[in-house]
Amino acid sequence: MKKILFLASLMILTCALSFAQDGVKKKRQRAYDYGQVILSNFSEKAGLPPVTFNHWTHRSKYTCRLCHLDLAFEMRPNATEISADDIQQGFYCGACHNGTSRHDGQTIFAACDTTQKPSKTTNCERCHQPGKDPQMKANFYAFSKNMPADRFGNKINWELAEEQGLITPIDFIEGVSSHSAPMPVQKDFALNAGVESMPNILFSHQKHTVWNGCQTCHPDIFVGVKKGATTYSMIEIFEQKYCGACHSTVAFPLQECQRCHTEPVQ
Ligand code: HEC
Ligand code: HEC
Ligand code: HEC
Ligand code: HEC
Ligand code: HEC
Ligand code: HEC
Repeated sequence: MKKILFLASLMILTCALSFAQDGVKKKRQRAYDYGQVILSNFSEKAGLPPVTFNHWTHRSKYTCRLCHLDLAFEMRPNATEISADDIQQGFYCGACHNGTSRHDGQTIFAACDTTQKPSKTTNCERCHQPGKDPQMKANFYAFSKNMPADRFGNKINWELAEEQGLITPIDFIEGVSSHSAPMPVQKDFALNAGVESMPNILFSHQKHTVWNGCQTCHPDIFVGVKKGATTYSMIEIFEQKYCGACHSTVAFPLQECQRCHTEPVQ
């Protein structure tokens, strides 16, 4: 009987998942645009195409923490309200895309010089393009073929890529990041799935802190005062709350049940 109930809840959840991904949000599931964000607060009003931002290009080079904390990018599409002016003053994208900052020995291309017109030489269209850049797709496959494979999302196992030293994301930019002492890292813990025969979730504070720091999760996503103080369900997670804020948009998606539900059931 319990087993039947469990299977029923599983089916509802799986439906919720496909609905969330095909119905409401129209999330595309192509490896190269998983984690893509279209920024369209100001560009179209100024007569330019919206801006396409890819997480895969950037997360292979920088930590989540660097952008979402030090550079103050919100974790919601279009919530930061970045303008060309901000960028020209060196904020947000302009902290790197300023024509002088370097990465891997190369100068990073500059952004939003509004005295110029979009043309072949001004690089405007590298950002101001509606997500159809064929070069980007080719670049993605050239990059991902050397990375450990995964089944969903970017189809790259980012965790392994980092463990194997294939990527070493930068966590600090001189003049932008602060030198504040790191917080003591909290212990890893198990979350009880609350359903018999559904494996419990092993959550690694340690690993998540390396990627995210503390403040990307606390207090916005998890109040985190005390384990168990916030209760959340798989349905809410499918609605992109809690773990789902990252694990349905940028980190490995929710189809990979067993990567979270790993602890054997007692
Ligand atoms: C180079 C900077 C940069 C890095 C590195 C980065 N992000 Fe982002 N992220 C952004 C920007 C820009 C946005 C869009 C913000 C906006 O539109 O206001 C965003 C948006 C998001 C969103 C919302 C996406 C959506 O579709 O709902 C999530 C979740 C997120 N980031 C998580 C992460 C995680 C997890 C990592 C690390 C694995 C990461 N980010 C690394 C810049 C970055
Ligand atoms: C922490 C530094 C950093 C920040 C912040 C950053 N970028 Fe980048 N970005 C890079 C680097 C490095 C590259 C690779 C440079 C190259 O390809 O010449 C890059 C490449 C790109 C590319 C070309 C590759 C692709 O993904 O199609 C685009 C487009 C882009 N960035 C857009 C943005 C936008 C839009 C923002 C702000 C919302 C932003 N970047 C913020 C460092 C950054
Ligand atoms: C690294 C990526 C990047 C590049 C390259 C870039 N832009 Fe932008 N630009 C942005 C982002 C992000 C926004 C804000 C997008 C939005 O929300 O509509 C923006 C917005 C704008 C706006 C809207 C008006 C405003 O006040 O915000 C103008 C105009 C603009 N850019 C001009 C240019 C021109 C001209 C070029 C080429 C010389 C250029 N940009 C190159 C990222 C870029
Ligand atoms: C990926 C998200 C994430 C990151 C990053 C993160 N935490 Fe947490 N933290 C959680 C979750 C989930 C809980 C469980 C409580 C809850 O459900 O609200 C929690 C709980 C806590 C608790 C209560 C622990 C207990 O046993 O009751 C403290 C204290 C805490 N976190 C501190 C930190 C600190 C300090 C950092 C950085 C070193 C950090 N967290 C980074 C997600 C995160
Ligand atoms: C990113 C991690 C993650 C992934 C991936 C994930 N879960 Fe969960 N799951 C959780 C967390 C966290 C809880 C809540 C635990 C608690 O109550 O503290 C949960 C709870 C549950 C529960 C208990 C009932 C409920 O609604 O809360 C079921 C059943 C469940 N998940 C099924 C699934 C299935 C089926 C999949 C794959 C389609 C899946 N989960 C993928 C993290 C995850
Ligand atoms: C702020 C963004 C964010 C939130 C919130 C978040 N994660 Fe993650 N998580 C990541 C990133 C980034 C990775 C690295 C792997 C990847 O990107 O696919 C990761 C990896 C993992 C892994 C594999 C590594 C490990 O710990 O063994 C598990 C399991 C996991 N997350 C579970 C959870 C659970 C459960 C929650 C909610 C309690 C949660 N995550 C909330 C960003 C997040």
